[in-house]
Amino acid sequence: MARAKLVSFFVALAYVEAGESGAFLPKTNNSIKSTVVQGSGISIASERRTQSESVEKLPDVIFIGDFLDMAGKEIAKQIAYIPARKYLDAVTGSSAFSVQMAGLASWCYDLDYFKSTWPNGWAGGWELVAEYVNDTESLVVPGHDVVALFAKDNKCAISFSGTHGLADWSTNFNAKTKVSLPECGLFHAHEGFFEVFLQFLLNEAWTDEFEPYLENNCSGGIYTVGHSQGAAVAEIFAACINAAGETLTLPDLVRWGKLVHAGGVRNTNVEVSGIYTLAGPAPAWTVLTNKLDPNGIFQGVRYFNQDAWSFDPVPWMTYPRGMKHAKYAAVKLNDHPEEYAAHTDDAVNVPRFPSFVPEIFQHLPPSYMQRLMKGTRKATLKIQRAWALPDRTNAPFNNPKPDPYVVVDAKNRIWGEVYRTETKKAATDPTWDESFVLEKYEPGDEVQVTVFDEQHPWGQDQKLGSVILKNFEPQGFEGWRPLYHGAWLKVAIFMSPVDF
Ligand SMILES: *[C@@H]1O[C@H](CO)[C@@H](O)[C@H](O)[C@H]1NC(C)=O
Ligand SMILES: *[C@@H]1O[C@H](CO)[C@@H](O)[C@H](O)[C@H]1NC(C)=O
Ligand SMILES: *[C@@H]1O[C@H](CO)[C@@H](O)[C@H](O)[C@H]1NC(C)=O
Repeated sequence: MARAKLVSFFVALAYVEAGESGAFLPKTNNSIKSTVVQGSGISIASERRTQSESVEKLPDVIFIGDFLDMAGKEIAKQIAYIPARKYLDAVTGSSAFSVQMAGLASWCYDLDYFKSTWPNGWAGGWELVAEYVNDTESLVVPGHDVVALFAKDNKCAISFSGTHGLADWSTNFNAKTKVSLPECGLFHAHEGFFEVFLQFLLNEAWTDEFEPYLENNCSGGIYTVGHSQGAAVAEIFAACINAAGETLTLPDLVRWGKLVHAGGVRNTNVEVSGIYTLAGPAPAWTVLTNKLDPNGIFQGVRYFNQDAWSFDPVPWMTYPRGMKHAKYAAVKLNDHPEEYAAHTDDAVNVPRFPSFVPEIFQHLPPSYMQRLMKGTRKATLKIQRAWALPDRTNAPFNNPKPDPYVVVDAKNRIWGEVYRTETKKAATDPTWDESFVLEKYEPGDEVQVTVFDEQHPWGQDQKLGSVILKNFEPQGFEGWRPLYHGAWLKVAIFMSPVDF
C-alpha cells in the first residue's frame, strides 16, 4: 500500500455544519447482550477520569483504555498480574475472536508477512463467501471500494476496505455535508463515509448476494469490521442496519452533481452483533448507537495505536471538527508490551498533541496486527524427545536405565505455570511428543525445561539437565538443545493466537 495515498487523507477532511434530526424505528427487541464494559474492573475508573478530563466530547464512548499498560502497571501494583489477552477476553468476550476480526479488517491489504510468521493463520479459518468490488462508477479518480463477506460456523463478518486508492480518500472531501437518515438512526454522519455505505447497499451485490446470505446463513451473528475509512463505514453500517426495519428506503447517490445510483428500497432484515475496527476516524457528529441494545452499546472493540511519544493520528483526526466515535469499547495498543515496566508515564490515553508525534506507520494495518498479536498470542511448547540420557550410577536396585520425565516451568512475572510429561520407563532415548499451552505466557517470558529421572519409590528424583528457552519470538523455535554431558533434548515452541 502506497504511503502517499494515506498521507493525502490527512489533508482531506473539511466540514460544514448541516443536518437534521428525527425519530428512529427500532426493529425488534432482540437478544444481543449489552457489552460487558467493565473489563477486569481494575483500572477502568482511572481511565474514565482521564477521558472526561481531557476529551469532553466523548462522554458516550466506553473507553476501556489501555490493556497493555494496565497489565504492567495498574494490575501488578494493585492485585495480580493479568495477561493482556485475558484483559481483552474480559473486554470483548474473546481475544482470539478479536484477533480474527482484526485480521479480516486487514484482509484487503497484503499481509503475507503475518501469514508466514504465524503459520497457524491469522484469520482463524474464516472463508470468503462474497466480494463486492467497484472500481469504476462512483469515484472521480480511479480506485476501488471492496466489501467482503466472510463466514465461519454460522458466524459472518463484513469487511469494508480502507484506503485502496486516491478515489477512496476523495470521498473524505465530501465531509462538507452532514447526512441524516432517521429511519436507520443516522444523524449527522460524515457524508463521504455515508456514501461508501450507500453505494454498497444500492448495488446489486447487496440485493443478490450479501443480504440473502446474511439473512439465511448467519445465525451465529454478523460482525462488521474495517480499517481506517473501512472502520467508519463498518460503524455506519452497523448503526443503520440495527435501527432499520426489514426494509429501508435509501436516497439517491449523487456525487459532484451527477446521479451515480438511483435510490430505492432495500431489504435490511439483518442485525449486526458487533463491530471490530482498527484505526477508525470518528464517523459522525451524533454518536452512533446500537438501537438493539438497551444502553446503545455495540459489542466489539475499536483499536487505536498510541505509544509513549507518537500515535496514529487518524482516530483523533475528526475530533477537532466535533465528530464522535460510535458507542463501543476502545482499546489502546502500544508497542513493546514486553517492556511494561518502562512505560511509567504512558497510561494517559489522550494524545497530548504538542508532545505526541503523529506517525503514519502506526496507522497501517500491519502495525495494528503486530501489536494485537503480540499482546494476545500464546506459546505452545512441545516436548519431543531426548537423546543419550545417562545410565544410572547410584541406584543398584533399580533398572540401570533412567525413567525420564520432563517438567516445564514457564516463568511468568508473577505466576508460574508448571507442567509435566509422562514418565517413560527405562529409556535413554525417550520420545514424549507432548504439547502444553502456556496459558499465562507473555512476550519476554522464559521457559525452563528440565528432565528428571523418576526414582520412586526409593529416592529423590534425579535431575538430568535443564534448558532455558528465551527470546524465541516471533518465529518460535524447534530443535535440539544440550542438556548435560552429551545428552540432548528436542523441543519446539511456537506462538499462536489463542484458540486458533
Ligand atoms: C421490548 O422489551 C421491553 C422489555 O422486555 C418491553 O417492555 C417492550 O414492550 C418490548 N418492545 C417491543 C416492541 O416488543
Ligand atoms: C459501481 O457502483 C455504481 C454505483 O453504485 C454502479 O452503478 C455500478 O454498476 C457499480 N459497478 C460495478 C462493477 O459493480
Ligand atoms: C444458506 O442458507 C440457505 C437457506 O437455509 C441454504 O439453502 C444454502 O445452502 C445456504 N448456503 C450456504 C453457502 O451455506
